[in-house]
Amino acid sequence: MVAERLTLAGCVFPDVEAEALLLAAGDDHRRQEYFLRRRESGEPMAWITGFTSFCGCSVKVATGVYVPRPHSENLAMRAASVLPQHGRAIDLGTGNGAVALVMQSLRPEAKVMGVECDHVAAECARSNQVTVAEGDLFAPVPRSWWGGVDVITGVLPYVPTRELAYLPHDVLAFEPRRALDGGDDGLGLVGRACQEAPRWLRPGGHLLMEVGGDQANRVHALLQTLGLDLVELLRDEDHDLRGLHAVLGTSS
Ligand SMILES: C[S@@+](CC[C@H](N)C(=O)[O-])C[C@H]1O[C@@H](n2cnc3c(N)ncnc32)[C@H](O)[C@@H]1O
Repeated sequence: MVAERLTLAGCVFPDVEAEALLLAAGDDHRRQEYFLRRRESGEPMAWITGFTSFCGCSVKVATGVYVPRPHSENLAMRAASVLPQHGRAIDLGTGNGAVALVMQSLRPEAKVMGVECDHVAAECARSNQVTVAEGDLFAPVPRSWWGGVDVITGVLPYVPTRELAYLPHDVLAFEPRRALDGGDDGLGLVGRACQEAPRWLRPGGHLLMEVGGDQANRVHALLQTLGLDLVELLRDEDHDLRGLHAVLGTSS
């Protein structure tokens, strides 16, 4: 019955979602109906249940906070793999803290700092045990970190404003615009983050940025001018281009 209603509402995985909704609602029928109606309206599952899965971890997602996507998992795992055990990492636009949490979980002795401009998202990341500085990109990071950061990650907004209309209806209707809108060419924030990254990275430090597949060439060209060498283009499990991994040249 629940799965049938979710199918009619256009959900892609109605059986899985029905099970998760019923689990989250418990035996209370009014609560079950309330959750079901929210999902039928297109509200993200993660906002209704309060959780999503990212890199095999259950992470909290508060209402109003961007829901971390499976296509960002490769970036998070790779970032953790290049972060030294006692290293330092900055996760720009940390949202609910998913990428930072993966790095911190796999490198418990490292200092990992998420940066977020949205207070609700920052509080959500804190509830996921992530250390968060609130503000614009690198602005709230202590200057004592200049030149000593091993890894910078960024899953920042990169959808060009005029292409927002092509996003799925539910994403547009519910998820925060400041998490999606990358400005005129989509690369306003990503470009700023790349420009500032060399000041923060140690020589040989890593920058991992998520971008749209058609933006990778432009970002690669920018990184070259900044002394950052491409290590690899990042792809998701469907082999779609999702970002770049670069290192700061040791002569920079
Ligand atoms: C696409 S979401 C990604 C969130 C998280 N990294 C993830 O993968 O789930 C982008 C995030 O960047 C934040 N953001 C947007 N502009 C920012 C800025 N200038 N400085 C810091 N964070 C910013 C948004 O509030 C949002 O939480």
